[in-house]
Formats: sequence, C-alpha cells, structure tokens
Amino acid sequence: MSQFWSKVVHQLTPYVPGEQPKINNLIKLNTNENPYGPSPKVLDALQKEAADTLRLYPDPNSDALKKAIAEYHGLNVNQVFVGNGSDEVLAHTFNALLKHDLPILFPDITYSFYPVYCGLYEIEFETVALNDAFEIRVEDYLKPNGGIIFPNPNAPTGCLLSLAEIERLLKSNRHSVVVVDEAYIDFGGESAVGLVNTYPQLLVVHTLSKSRSLAGLRAGYAVGHPELIDALHRVKDSFNSYPLDRFAQAGAIAAMQDKAYFNETCQRVIKTREHLVIELQKMGFEVLPSGANFIFARHPAHDGEVLANQLRSKNIVIRHFKKPAKIAQFLRITIGTEIECQALVEALKDMV
Ligand SMILES: Cc1ncc(COP(=O)(O)O)c(C=O)c1O
Repeated sequence: MSQFWSKVVHQLTPYVPGEQPKINNLIKLNTNENPYGPSPKVLDALQKEAADTLRLYPDPNSDALKKAIAEYHGLNVNQVFVGNGSDEVLAHTFNALLKHDLPILFPDITYSFYPVYCGLYEIEFETVALNDAFEIRVEDYLKPNGGIIFPNPNAPTGCLLSLAEIERLLKSNRHSVVVVDEAYIDFGGESAVGLVNTYPQLLVVHTLSKSRSLAGLRAGYAVGHPELIDALHRVKDSFNSYPLDRFAQAGAIAAMQDKAYFNETCQRVIKTREHLVIELQKMGFEVLPSGANFIFARHPAHDGEVLANQLRSKNIVIRHFKKPAKIAQFLRITIGTEIECQALVEALKDMV
C-alpha cells in the first residue's frame, strides 16, 4: 500500500502463475507446458534471427505471422490479431470488447486470470456455476450480458463443450461478444474457428504455448470478424507497438508452418493422457473427461493437498488449487512424457 498508487492498484488481486521451481531433476507437471520441445524448424528460425538486424525494431504489425496464421486456418489476414502470449490477447479483449454496461459472464470454475482482468479494467462480471459433472451448460448463459468468455476445453477441468453447443449459444447470443479461449483445443477438441465467418460476435483465442511448445517465446492470437480484430489493434496500438519481438515472430511463423511436427507431438500427448487416465482410474481416482494436455482428478479416500505435498516431496510437482471448495480435492496434472507419467503413477501407488 502506498499513497502514490493509483486507486485501481489498491483494488487489484493479481494472478498468481504456477510455480517455476529452480530445482534439478524435477518432474514438472504443474503449468501445462508441452513435454516435447518446439519443432526443429522453430529453432532454426530463431538462430537465423540472432543477427545484426536485432538493432532494428520488429514489424509492429507482425504481418508475416498474421499471414501464416490466416493461411493455417483458411482465413483472411484482417481476421487475425497477434499478441505477446494469449494472456496479452485476452487482456486486450477484455479492454476492447468486454467492457460494457452489463456484467460479463464466465464459469465459476475457470481460468483464474479472467476475474483479474475484470479487476484491472473495472469490468463487472457474474460467474455461472458449472453443473455437477463440472460441465458448462449453455442454457445458463442465455440471459442479458455484456459478453461471455470461457475456455474450451475449460481450465482447470479439461472438460469440452461440443461445437454444436457453442453454435447454439452463438445463435441465441447475438448482441454481445462471445470469446472462446481455445488454449488447449488441439489436444482433441473441435475448434470454433470455422464459425467466425458465420458469427460476427465470435472471437476465438489461441496460444502457441501449449500445442506448439512455445510457452517461453510468448505468442498468442485471436481470430474473428475484422471489426473485432480492429478493436484489438486499436487497444494494442494505444499500449505497446511492438509486443512480439523478432524472435517471437520468426519462431511463431515456423511453428504454424510445421504441421507434421505439431500433429505428431499432439498425438503423443493425447496417447499418454489416455494411458495415464486408465492408470489413475485403476488406483481409484475419479478423472474428469479431458480434451486438454492435463487432467483433473480426485481420489475419494485421499486429500488433494496431502497428495500434492507428498508428490512434491518426491520431486514431482502438479497443481493443486485450494479454492474454491468445490475443486479443493482435485489435482491438476499436466501430461508429461511417457516416462514422467509412469514415474507419477509409481509414486501415487505408494500413496493411495
Ligand atoms: C485457459 C488459458 N488461456 C490462456 C492461457 C495463457 O497462455 P499464454 O499466455 O501462455 O498464451 C492459459 C495458460 O495457462 C490458459 O490456461
């Protein structure tokens, strides 16, 4: 607290990211990073970028990257916005498209950055409870609102909402923006990107941090109607002209273009996830159906926090959320390599 702080700073409850422990030989299954490195083509592109040209500013509009993303999704360049990680894209989205008179809606259990952005931009929000199976129910969102946002698959549950249900929501909610945060969609879900030409109120947000293994590079994007994209550019150009540096732009282009590597690594993660689910179920865990690169699981006879601490003492970190009470017994486990997941299974066998 300081007399020098702006009023809004006093009211902020900042987001707390998952821990990045500085411990050797750790099995790190806590922040949904990809266990496989980025495409070798990304590393080549980054090396080429380490050149004299670093003295020059990067392209403020990231035109080549937007073109690569537009080509990947079969869209026009004016339907694409890029940012420094999807967190920045989301931040601009809250500011540019979700700040209206009515409160915005998002699930009660969801990505915990959403209420933080509402605090920063002074946006009213209402949370909508997931059903007993921890799923989003479209009916519950059919009421007046200043906008709707949810991740698909949801985080931290991993549960997917079908494309048909998303379209049902879009058909009934035409007067405010619907943001689908598809950070984890490439691990088995059906993307809503194909709907952006039909629904001008739909914005779909993607990240290169998860399925393209580039959490360390910071690149994310949104696709939608050119008018939505224009709003994001107006905010971005009132904030930071160069959010993506030369490395981020070059690496992200190479990642979007190497489809073979992307498909292969996503399939490996999905296969390991399916195997891990079976192993955990054999031990008595209840595992929510996951379309993500993580799973959300609880054991009927063992406390979530105790299990998380015991795993940590064995050098395995997973994520445990103490709040809200509804999810306090769950462990969120990122899918690692086959070897890492096997080590997790062996460790849990000694505990449950
Ligand atoms: C649902 C969701 N959206 C967005 C992000 C942000 O990803 P990034 O800023 O790395 O692109 C995350 C990160 O964990 C997430 O879980």
